[in-house]
Order: sequence, then C-alpha cells, then structure tokens
Amino acid sequence: MDTGFQDSSTPPRRGLFRAKTVEESIADTEDPERGLRKELSTLDLVAYGVGVIIGTGIFVVTGSVAKQYAGPAVALAFIAAGVVCALAALCYAEFASTVPVAGSAYTFGYASIGELPAWIIGWDLVLELALGAAVVAGGWSGYIASLLSDAGADVPASLSHQGGGFGFDILAAALVLVLTGIVMVGMKLSARVTGVVVAVKVTVVLLVIFAGLFYVTGGNYHPFLPPSRSNTGGGSQLHAPLVQVMFGFTPSSFGVMGIFSAAAVVFFAFIGFDIVATAAEETRHPQRDLPRGIFGSLVVCTVLYVAVSLVVTGMEKYSKLDTSAPLANAFTSVGAHFWADVISFGAAVGLTSVVLILLLGQTRVFFAMSRDGLLPRAFSRVHPRFGTPYRTTLLLGTAVAAIAGFFSVGQLEEMVNIGTLFAFIVVAVGVVVLRHTRPDLHRAFRAPWVPFLPALSVCASLWLMINLSVETWLRFAGWMVVGLAVYFGYGRGHSRLARGR
Ligand code: ALA
Repeated sequence: MDTGFQDSSTPPRRGLFRAKTVEESIADTEDPERGLRKELSTLDLVAYGVGVIIGTGIFVVTGSVAKQYAGPAVALAFIAAGVVCALAALCYAEFASTVPVAGSAYTFGYASIGELPAWIIGWDLVLELALGAAVVAGGWSGYIASLLSDAGADVPASLSHQGGGFGFDILAAALVLVLTGIVMVGMKLSARVTGVVVAVKVTVVLLVIFAGLFYVTGGNYHPFLPPSRSNTGGGSQLHAPLVQVMFGFTPSSFGVMGIFSAAAVVFFAFIGFDIVATAAEETRHPQRDLPRGIFGSLVVCTVLYVAVSLVVTGMEKYSKLDTSAPLANAFTSVGAHFWADVISFGAAVGLTSVVLILLLGQTRVFFAMSRDGLLPRAFSRVHPRFGTPYRTTLLLGTAVAAIAGFFSVGQLEEMVNIGTLFAFIVVAVGVVVLRHTRPDLHRAFRAPWVPFLPALSVCASLWLMINLSVETWLRFAGWMVVGLAVYFGYGRGHSRLARGR
C-alpha cells in the first residue's frame, strides 16, 4: 500500500484538530521497528475480553453496591450498565473494524476528530487502565490475604490495607511487577496464561450461580427495590452523585435513583470490552473478528452478572452482604464453607488475568501515543526479540505497582468509571464524524441508525457519569488539567504530524 505519508516531504499539519488519516494509522503498524505481531483470533479475543471483564466488579463491588444503593435490584443496575456498554460497543466495533491499529479509542479519535481530542482520550485511557489495574490488584491482594489468614498466616497491617491505618500493600505491588514481566516477554505467553485463568474464573462464576441456587431464600428478595432513603452523613455533598446536587435533591440511596447510582458504580464490572479493541493491531482478521470478540464477551458477561447478583442477594439479605468478599461470604453465611474457600481461590486466580490485561491495554495506548510523538518516541521502540514495547511496559508497570501499593480498593474505582465513560462519548462522536469525513472507508462492521444510535450512546454514558460523585468529577477535572499541560508543554511541539512526519 502506498500511502505516501512516510515521505519526508509530507507538509507539517497545524492546529489542535489536525488529524492522522486512517491510511497513516494503518501504515504505522507496518514499520518493522514499531509494528506489533498479528496473531490473535476471535476466540482469543473473547477469552481476552472475558478475561478482563469479569473481575473485581462482580467479585467485590456487587456486595457494597447492593448494600449501599440498590438492594437485590443491583441486578437491574447490571442490566442498565450493560445497555450503556452495548450502545458504546456498537460504536467501538465500527471504529475498531475501520481503524485496526493499537491504541483503541485514542487511535480512533486521532483518525477522526483530531489531535487534541485524541490526546485527551489517550490521557484518559491511561487513567482508566492504570488505575483499573491498581484497583483490581488491591482486590486480589484482599482475597489472597484472606486465604493466607485461613491458613494461619496473617499479612502484617503495615504491608496491607487491612488495618485501616497507613500501609503499603506489598501483595498487590508484587503481583503488578510479576505481571509486568510477563507482558514484557510477549503477547503469546500472556494469551496462554490468560486462557487458563479465564477458564478457572468462568468455572467459579458458574459455581456461584448453580451451587448458590440451592441456598436462595425468597424472603431475601423483599423488598426487591428498597424505598429511597436520604443520606445525612457528613460531607455528603462531595460524596453525593453530581445529578442529585445539580438538581438540588437531598442526596439519597435506594429507590429508583439508587438503581442508577448503582449502575454508575457496577459499570466497573463491564470495563474491559473496550480494551479488546486495543488488540486490533495484533488480530489476524480485525475486520471480522473484532466486532465478534467485543460482542461475544459483553453478552457472556451481562448474563453471568445478572445471574450472580440475583443468586447472591437471594442467599443473604442485602443489608448483611460483605463488602470485601461478598460472593464467598454469602456461602459462609449459609454454612457452605467448602464452596466459600473454592470461590475465594478462584476469585484470586481470576483477578490475576484482569490485572494482566489492563496492564497490557495501557502499554498499548501509551505505545501508540509515543509512536505519534505525543510522548517521547523512545517509548515506542519494540524489543527486537519479544516484539513488545518493553520500555513503556516497564515504566507504567512500576508506576502501577506503586499506586497499587499506596491506595486501597474503593479509593480509585469511580475515577476509572468516569474516565472510561468519557472515552465512550468521544468514540460515539468519532463514529459520526468519520462517517461524514471519510464515507469512502471500508467498514467491516457498520453501527446501525447512525447518528441516532451514537447520540443515544452519548446520552446514556453522560447519564451514568452524572450519577458519579461530585468528588470523582473534581478529581477527574484535575487529571485532565495535568494532561492538557503535558500536551501543550510537550506533545503539541513533538507530534509527528506537526513535524511533517
Ligand atoms: N471489569 C473489570 C473488573 O470487574 C475491570 O474488575
């Protein structure tokens, strides 16, 4: 393919909305020093998707959300969050099948709406993936600590977050470092390890559903949707959902609004299907396999989540659910200790693959941004033997290990959600823009009812975003301000588009 863009005579492009052409994005992947290997199939992608999607969201967050916001109606919250994701998935699938290169929403944004919006998405995705990996590593550490404690070996409080005071979560940090090593060695090894772990994880989830069914008590479903209750705790304005503060409601939990507050939080459980799109460049037939991979993993997970949440809230009264290991605890509460241990073990194994894939996704986004010159180019050199962006992997892996060590689960989770939802919005807008600017491009998958469907996707994502807390919005704004400073201080001047590539 002769795109002509590698010709050094390509004129510099100016302006915040200068965009790479789709052909340029694809041709970049053919640079032997900066191209990733193409070896993933549809099945690999579904395994990859399920591998990252099922994790802390269902194993940990279900319990606290049922207890705080929705009761047994947390199952409805999963459906609401699933619908938001399905709308976004249609947009992602079109973009991913049109622009099959590493970097996900970042690359799609660059090819459609321009450099500054693309930078914003990339910066935002690094937030989603890095903090997501740290959060899940923290959840993993909690399960391992509880298994160790059952075996009579307690982790000291200063080396975990269990004691409540200051602690560095050594288990979470160690997990991140080991997995960083695996990612550096190569995709193939990662995919193989992921395959085994995904099998264990799905088995454990099915076990919760089928073994748990025998312990369900109908009375636990009453009330299915607990009546609305106002939150009068201190600092509640900061912790209240933005939508309630915007419209001057008294901050409250449960009731119909509680379902949406719950959906905005359990949305975390779906994060990952968008990451399947980051593997576009490493997929053998992206045009056909990517949409299948994205939808396949999304459908499997939604069905499992609804079933798990119905079973667990049927086993134990929602108000009594545990917030750190609710699935295992529901079995303990009915005296099924053996199953509780099996589930704890499976959860610990399962969370490993989530961290692994989140790490992999973030290195790919960072890699793509560096390849474009928005971050130092040294980070996009691939290893001559392993074919992986090893410098990026090492840098980010170390940073995530530190974050996982210093912060506990729950401190960062909503930040991950807001960042991801924001990326969904940009992708939906991008689909419409690209249909107008490049109607000629081959689209192996076309989202239906454009522009209405992307518009609906934007509204749905925005709705979940405003159901997140005011505090989360403030932190998100802070992260974005830093991102803009980095762009104007470095990326804008070093961009390969600015320099005529
Ligand atoms: N969806 C992933 C989880 O639930 C991030 O842990």
